Amino acid sequence: MQISFAAARPAGSFALVLPVAGSERSALQSLGAERAAIEGAAKAQRFEGELGGSAEAWSHADGSARRILLVGTGGGQPADSAEKLGGTAVAKLLTSGVTKAVIDLSGLGYDADAAAKVALGAALRSWRYDLYRTKLKEKQKPTLTEIVIVGADGAESRWNERYAGLVEGVALTKELVTEPANIIYAETFVERVRAAAEGTGLEIEVLGETEMRELGMGALLGVNQGSMREPRLLIMKWNGGAKGTSPLALIGKGVTFDTGGISIKPAAGMESMKWDMGGAGAVAGAMLALAKRKAKANVVGLCGLVENMPDGRAQRPGDVVTSMNGQTIEVINTDAEGRLVLADVMTYAQRTFRPKTMIDLATLTGAMVISLGHEYAGVFSNDDSLAAELQAAGTKSGDKLWRMPLGEAYDRLIDSPIADIKNVGPREGGSITAAQFLQRFVDEGVRWAHLDVAGVVWSDKPGTTFDKGATGFGVRVLDQFVESTAEA
Ligand code: BES
Ligand code: MN
Ligand code: ZN
Repeated sequence: MQISFAAARPAGSFALVLPVAGSERSALQSLGAERAAIEGAAKAQRFEGELGGSAEAWSHADGSARRILLVGTGGGQPADSAEKLGGTAVAKLLTSGVTKAVIDLSGLGYDADAAAKVALGAALRSWRYDLYRTKLKEKQKPTLTEIVIVGADGAESRWNERYAGLVEGVALTKELVTEPANIIYAETFVERVRAAAEGTGLEIEVLGETEMRELGMGALLGVNQGSMREPRLLIMKWNGGAKGTSPLALIGKGVTFDTGGISIKPAAGMESMKWDMGGAGAVAGAMLALAKRKAKANVVGLCGLVENMPDGRAQRPGDVVTSMNGQTIEVINTDAEGRLVLADVMTYAQRTFRPKTMIDLATLTGAMVISLGHEYAGVFSNDDSLAAELQAAGTKSGDKLWRMPLGEAYDRLIDSPIADIKNVGPREGGSITAAQFLQRFVDEGVRWAHLDVAGVVWSDKPGTTFDKGATGFGVRVLDQFVESTAEA
């Protein structure tokens, strides 16, 4: 989507989008003599200017028919509904036949940031992936290619500095999450990220199987043992902050397909496990966003990329593996693989980069989906201020987080009779015992948070900033967290 900004409406043909704040109708003044007719048409569609509502009408003022789209913002501050305004407009117009839309904010109190957020919502909502839809009918294809935001001073530079790169990061995440597992596996994940990061200054380093074996990553390697694909550890470094300050570490679970392994999952719905790399996808997207917008912070992103397959060589329930930090793990259930991958990546990250703060993102447990559904991701942390900072960044960005507990009593549930730790606890509190497992790999003094994103990386219905499918969850909360903390 081509996004631009202007002081006044351009010449030529376009659909005109006007925000309507509930019963406050000043946006309609510019319709002149046609105002009454258009308001009447909107009323007939039961449009009340409510947030997310919309109505269509036609204007004939200059002799040709122009499509008018009224989008409800519900009143309140423009900033609060700006993203939804952009998202709603695009959702309505994307395949409508319209090729160009003008969103006119003139005189409605949108400051530079609010207007740029209209563009953000529009750009995010316009993402789709039609690569494999070779038989789309003409009528089903997107038509909208251009959006002009009119009437807000300073919006263009705000957009360029703060949001344009973020959109590219979210797009990368959505693409990685959408692609099936025969296309995106460890090696190709790395290649996609490399291509996207070209010329951004993001430094990329990759460890292969041999290096990981030398480092003693027995937990991660055990998971990949049944796969024909080679594992990878993808490391992305962004040094936009003061030289020598220790980086924030972001860690992603990148299981490019999770069959469950020998503890195999039921067939129904197993295809959704192509997005078991959603945590890694979010970390890659966030790193790209930070680099694109030249964030003034030092951040390192690490993605543990493996495939969990059943095979003659696959690891078995009961196997004991040794992790990079020397802890032994009894693998009770080969389907609790994400924590095994993260354990070694966390150890590597702490030893290599000495971060003060480490955040991991993972589609870790089905139990998380049972707890919070598809609205919030769970956040677990050993540090109250870190949890609060992340929750605030979540609220501000739209990637909402809900705090979950940790504690000694939960930790006892993953003691193993044969090894230091076992990879599953009882069924109850499954997301918490998974987080406890991860905490055993957090070094003394490191502020750590774990985001269980199992319920939010994929959506069966469209949202404000995504169509049904990949949501891009995680990129925005991480980007906002960096802005609010490391760049502050
Ligand atoms: N990737 C899954 C978690 C998952 C399940 C995410 C459903 C999204 C939707 C994870 O690897 C897994 O299989 N977890 C098991 C853990 C159990 C064996 C302790 C689970 O949640 O069932
Ligand atoms: Mn699993
Ligand atoms: Zn998994």
